[in-house]
Amino acid sequence: MSDPVYLDHAATTPLRPEARDAMLAALDGRWGNPSSIHRWGRDARAALDDARARFAAVIGASPAEIVFTRGGTEADNMALWGRARLAPSAPLACSAVEHSAVLNAVRAAGEAGHPVHLLPVDGNGLVDLDALRALLAGEEKPAVVSVMWANNEVGAMQPVREIAALCRASGVVFHSDAVQALGKVPVRADEVAADLLAFSAHKLGGPRGVGALYVRRGTAIQPMLHGGGQERGMRPGTEDVAGAIALAVAAELAAAERQTLMPRLAALRDRLEAELFARVPGLVLNAAGAPRLPTISNVSVPGADAEMLLIGMDMEGIAVSSGSACSSGAVTPSHVLTAMGVAPQAAGPSVRFSLGRGTTDADIDRVIHVFPAVAERVRL
Ligand SMILES: Cc1ncc(COP(=O)(O)O)c(C=O)c1O
Repeated sequence: MSDPVYLDHAATTPLRPEARDAMLAALDGRWGNPSSIHRWGRDARAALDDARARFAAVIGASPAEIVFTRGGTEADNMALWGRARLAPSAPLACSAVEHSAVLNAVRAAGEAGHPVHLLPVDGNGLVDLDALRALLAGEEKPAVVSVMWANNEVGAMQPVREIAALCRASGVVFHSDAVQALGKVPVRADEVAADLLAFSAHKLGGPRGVGALYVRRGTAIQPMLHGGGQERGMRPGTEDVAGAIALAVAAELAAAERQTLMPRLAALRDRLEAELFARVPGLVLNAAGAPRLPTISNVSVPGADAEMLLIGMDMEGIAVSSGSACSSGAVTPSHVLTAMGVAPQAAGPSVRFSLGRGTTDADIDRVIHVFPAVAERVRL
């Protein structure tokens, strides 16, 4: 049996040894409560401040603009609810291809009485800028517009610079979920007029359950939780010092290696796509016309059995994921592909290959060898 191949780095990617070492050192040595005034507390506070400054530097922000959170989901919810709660009946808007952390937060706000606008996307998953312009020109300004930096299923990168500028020009707060983008493409708060940005450590080689929200100076948000005044009152609760340090270390390393790692992964991904095209009749590359992350490739095998496709790959020891949501055993076509106008018979049997720093030539060779046979076997 060949070695297993992990091509699901967009779901999560292994912890970097440096992040783990920094985390363990903080758990053992900086265990004080950062709010305590004695030396143990001051020591933990200094470590937390250092993590904040280092993470802020990676994204071109100032330390006071960083709120550490319990991951990307919390950061997204904090941004959306944080704005919604300031303006109880104001509309909220997001793209139709957002991660469920955004989409379901916006839907929940809809149930609580906020009018909701889902911005349509084109066949490549890119937001319809005319729809955004029309929304921004309307009478009722949204409390927040949320459009992700890069899509987690198909890798499409939105024109965030332009979207941010449009929102800024209309005086509307703009949030972007940059969870998949950080470390893969430049994400700088000093270069894009975004007001809120969500990040997650475990997509970068940091631990799960740690993230951050960038809140541009002057952007008001209402906290979701109530408690002590930690994180300037925006995220009360004793801070996870070790997690914050690990996030900062992972983000620094990801940013430092980006310029050498991403071209290598883009070349592997291009080879994978070219070879699969040559070997799998009818294969469709989703979001083919969009600027894409170098690490994600999402393909559909029209006419194949969606569930069997994934099971077949798993049985070969290759970890990929489906663009589709799999709940209670039933595979339903992904909301992202559906919003892009992909027909159900192609949206269902879709596979996401996502590459990471551990991905090798041999991994790609293996997929090129195995996938065509699996796709052939599971054609209906
Ligand atoms: C685009 C995007 N946003 C948000 C999240 C949620 O992040 P977390 O797992 O840290 O809550 C993910 C992770 O699946 C993601 O891919």
